[in-house]
Amino acid sequence: MIIAIDGPAGSGKSTISKLVAKDLDLIYLDTGAMYRLVTLKALKMGILDENLENLDKINELLDNLEIDIREDGFYLDGVDVSEEIRKPIVSENVSKIAAIKEVRIKMVDLQRAFSKAKNVILDGRDIGTVVFPNADLKVFLVADARERANRRYKELTEKGENVSLEEIYQNILMRDKIDSTREEAPLKKAEDAVEVDTTSKNIDEVKEKILNLYKNL
Ligand code: DC
Repeated sequence: MIIAIDGPAGSGKSTISKLVAKDLDLIYLDTGAMYRLVTLKALKMGILDENLENLDKINELLDNLEIDIREDGFYLDGVDVSEEIRKPIVSENVSKIAAIKEVRIKMVDLQRAFSKAKNVILDGRDIGTVVFPNADLKVFLVADARERANRRYKELTEKGENVSLEEIYQNILMRDKIDSTREEAPLKKAEDAVEVDTTSKNIDEVKEKILNLYKNL
């Protein structure tokens, strides 16, 4: 069983996917976190400011990438970086990294290997279009960009991050643009995905909607 939840930043994918995973006893895979891990690695290697078309650096990064997705968190080179990958510096740079073909090939391979012979709900941008075009259920979540910025702001300030709402809003607009216009696996709704607008829905309503879609499969 594969459930694909795609949509732009802040549309509610991870919150909803976690809840649905719990209800249906599925394993949850946050694929955005994987691109964040690669971005963090690029930051640590100091190659983000370089020309990212320099594939030698990217290949060196990918060859030395040790990522581990455990139930208790995301590990990079043996260290739990679950908090670090949510920092603004990673959010600001992740779309650039996620647009690189070589990075995507490796992440998609890892996502398919992780999900093999398991019941999994994955959230991301290209799950229904590229990673699992034959997923049992595909949902495309959307929400107004201002509302998405408000949600991210609330999430980060609750964690004690000192962030500005306007900066988050601008970052969301920038990521939407890069993610949906890139050449490799752009963010888009799969033809057979069900679109759910979460702007004025609460979490329970969205969860129930997805559970109903699942029941009617
Ligand atoms: O869902 P998120 O905000 O953590 O995702 C971080 C970035 O990773 C996002 O800007 C786009 C990219 N991404 C992607 O290209 N493909 C995926 N399947 C998941 C995320």
